[in-house]
Amino acid sequence: MTVARKINDIMAKSSWIRKMFEEGGRLKAEHGADKVFDFSLGNPILPPPEKFNEILRDTVDSCGLGDHCYMPQAGYPQVCISISQYLSVEQDVPVTCNDVIMTCGAAGALNVILKALLDPGDEVLTPMPCFVEYRFYADNHGGVLKMVATRSDFTLDVEAIGQAISEKTKVVLINSPNNPTGQIYDKACLDALGRLLAEKSDQYGHVIYLVSDEPYRKIVYDGATVPSIFKSYRDSIIATSYSKDISIPGERIGFAAINPMATHRESLMAGMALTNRILGFVNAPALMQRVVARMQGMSVDIDEYKRKRDLLCDGLAEAGYEFIVPPGAFYLFPRTPIADDVEFVRALQKELILVVPGSGFAGPGHFRIAFCVADQTIVNALPGFKRVMQQYH
Ligand SMILES: Cc1ncc(COP(=O)(O)O)c(C=O)c1O
Repeated sequence: MTVARKINDIMAKSSWIRKMFEEGGRLKAEHGADKVFDFSLGNPILPPPEKFNEILRDTVDSCGLGDHCYMPQAGYPQVCISISQYLSVEQDVPVTCNDVIMTCGAAGALNVILKALLDPGDEVLTPMPCFVEYRFYADNHGGVLKMVATRSDFTLDVEAIGQAISEKTKVVLINSPNNPTGQIYDKACLDALGRLLAEKSDQYGHVIYLVSDEPYRKIVYDGATVPSIFKSYRDSIIATSYSKDISIPGERIGFAAINPMATHRESLMAGMALTNRILGFVNAPALMQRVVARMQGMSVDIDEYKRKRDLLCDGLAEAGYEFIVPPGAFYLFPRTPIADDVEFVRALQKELILVVPGSGFAGPGHFRIAFCVADQTIVNALPGFKRVMQQYH
């Protein structure tokens, strides 16, 4: 065998999202793209804000000698300054440019952080359901992903986290607004988590880091806000990107920011600059760094996603589906009317509706609908959703 055993195993299992994506390709070729309702991927449909093209053109036009060269691994100092100034207001904590490192998206940020923190066998604890890739990211760096239950509304169960922490726990990884549930963790529960991690760090004699993966921070509805983890726990790190809020996932640009109060702030930043290099990213894309530095605080029109969310929630509620109306992100995670979510997803597939079984996110008995799609896709899929629900009632 040429491919490593571990990679071969992963390829053989293939993620549910990928399976649905590939199935979508087949069904579209067979039935025509407009007849297939593809809710499988969190690939944002909205174009980037208008300013993006203007700033991009201006950035290209003003490029001079050296503007495409290698740079400090953490990114251009000017870019880190711009982001730290924005973060200081957003997080209500004085962040400096030395606390920010530019990365290849949130995925790049998470890998840079975990590579810098994990020793072989260290555990990364995350609430479930969770983003499928976390298992691979932990494993990439010798870590082990351990999952812990959430409450019935998918909010954090801090007591359960407390019970799951062991001397091997190095990182608690949270994601709010959450993929796949859309849930947001409130300040009271983040404060409780912060107190727990401080206590457990003391008990085990090493820092347990809180890593907050927050690429959906700006995608929130009905006045919801995402509290700052920096205010809740000193040894915390943000991983984020511009992939979802300004709709540029293909450009691979994001950053990690360390809490300026973190115990080992300087060595951690030095470690992350090194891991950015040795993971082969070297530094985040130069052009995009300069563009996003000028786009702080901007986002796509969130009302567009709210309209899609409401359209979907109203239609599915009317058809008898049960779900938490997501306060953030662009995913809905309804309950399946039967225990076997894979069977239910297959039934939806017969209506040419592509969604992902909750089992793929360690959330069995549910399925995920990514509603970052055209309104027409939602409207035209609703009768099929209804027919399938009727089969099970
Ligand atoms: C929860 C979560 N984290 C990280 C990522 C990766 O984001 P990026 O494309 O910025 O690397 C995604 C992408 O879907 C996500 O949903």
